[in-house]
Amino acid sequence: MNPSTDVTLADVDGAVAHRLLQLAKGDASPDEVAPPLGGPGWNLDRTAWFYGYHRAAAGGLDGPAAEKSWAVFVGADIAGSVRLKREPGAGILTAETGIWLGRSFRSRGIGRAALDLVLAKARKAGLKRVTARTLAGNGGAQRLLAAAGAALTYDDDGTVLAVVEL
Ligand SMILES: CC(C)(COP(=O)(O)OP(=O)(O)OC[C@H]1O[C@@H](n2cnc3c(N)ncnc32)[C@H](O)[C@@H]1OP(=O)(O)O)[C@@H](O)C(=O)NCCC(=O)NCCS
Repeated sequence: MNPSTDVTLADVDGAVAHRLLQLAKGDASPDEVAPPLGGPGWNLDRTAWFYGYHRAAAGGLDGPAAEKSWAVFVGADIAGSVRLKREPGAGILTAETGIWLGRSFRSRGIGRAALDLVLAKARKAGLKRVTARTLAGNGGAQRLLAAAGAALTYDDDGTVLAVVEL
């Protein structure tokens, strides 16, 4: 596999959302994919959030949710998801990003390739800055973001803010 050529981003329609949820259930922790709703595991609340989130994000950065999600594909295999959401109060044109991959797709350069693709989408949309927030204990996410050129700020609440100037 060559991540720089085999990794693509695809829109999330209903069928793709279903495939993403199967991947999330079988190959990721629920907390990596969805907020902690309704207790542990993939309960009804989390599942409803998941489908509702991707449906709303299908409207794109200029839609009502000001957000866009994509599925990350490696060849024909669905590997995870990445998103962009506008941050209207930030002063310059800014969006927040987030990414998760199935465990079996991690540590092969796929995250790096997917983040590069989403930064290219952000540039194309005229954005000037992309941010991400992760936990201080998430070394993988910090390495990934630093490798994409992010400046990292460690906050007192145990989170890290990553800022990429485009
Ligand atoms: C974070 C995540 C997207 C990284 O994707 P990935 O495909 O595994 O990352 P890559 O293989 O492209 O590696 C990118 C960089 O991060 C480093 N890295 C990746 N996972 C790592 C880990 N667990 N520990 C330390 N470094 C790690 C790689 O060495 C590489 O660094 P380099 O470019 O300096 O060599 C993936 O691990 C994941 O989905 N994690 C769960 C969800 C999550 O934490 N999302 C981030 C929220 S902002």
